[in-house]
Amino acid sequence: MPLVIAMDGPSGSGKSSASKGVARALGLRYLDTGAMYRAMTWWMLREGVPVDDPAAVAARAAEPVIESGTDPDGPAITVDGADVSAPIRTREVTNAVSAVSSVPAVRERLVALQREIIGAGGIVVEGRDIGTVVAPDAAVKVYLTASEEVRAARRAKELAADPAASVTVTRAEQARRDRLDSTRTASPLAKAGGAVEIDSSGLGLDEVIEAVLRLARAMSD
Ligand code: DC
Repeated sequence: MPLVIAMDGPSGSGKSSASKGVARALGLRYLDTGAMYRAMTWWMLREGVPVDDPAAVAARAAEPVIESGTDPDGPAITVDGADVSAPIRTREVTNAVSAVSSVPAVRERLVALQREIIGAGGIVVEGRDIGTVVAPDAAVKVYLTASEEVRAARRAKELAADPAASVTVTRAEQARRDRLDSTRTASPLAKAGGAVEIDSSGLGLDEVIEAVLRLARAMSD
C-alpha cells in the first residue's frame, strides 16, 4: 500500500524541513497543509473579510480556488491561479491564520482538498490534524515537538529580514498561535493515537529525518 506519513506538531518544531527531507529521501510527494490555511487567510485579508468574525469567514470560505503542488523541492501554492508562496509567509498572515483556521467551514473545505491530493498515498503530509483527522489511517504518524525557546529561535531566524520580529516578539506571537491552535474546538492540534513523539530540541535536521526514516522502515519490514 502506498505510504502516507503524517507529520503533526506546533509551529517551529521543524516539521517543514524534516517533512521535505523525508519525502526526498523516500521519493515521495510532500503536502504542506499549513500553506493552504495561510492561502485561505491571505485571500480573506485581501478581500477585507474581518478574520475575527467566524460567520463572515465561513460565508466566503468556498470562494478562493486554492491549489497546492506536491514537489518537496518547490511546493507551489496558488490562489485563483496566482502564486502566493511568498505573501502567505508575512507576519500579517501568520498572526491571522489561527482565527481563520478555527472556522469549521474552512476546515471542511481544506480537509476535503487535502484528502483529494493525498489520494492513494505516496506522500508526506505536514500539519496539525493530519494523524487525527485528515489521514487517521496513515501508516506512520509523527508528533514533532521542541522546547518553546528552540522553536522561537528557529522562527526568529526565518524572519531575520523583518526588524520587528525579535525573538521576544516572535515567542509571544508563537505562544499565542499555539494556544489558539491547541484549544480551538474544530480539530485542535493534538498528538494522534499511534503517533510517535520526537522532541527535536537537541537534534539536528539529519537526525530528525533519520528518526522518521527508521519509523518508515520499521513499517515496511
Ligand atoms: O504550519 P504553519 O505554521 O504554516 O501553519 C499555519 C497555521 O495553519 C497554524 O497556525 C494552524 C493552521 N493549520 C491548521 O489548523 N491545520 C493544519 N493541518 C495545518 C495548519
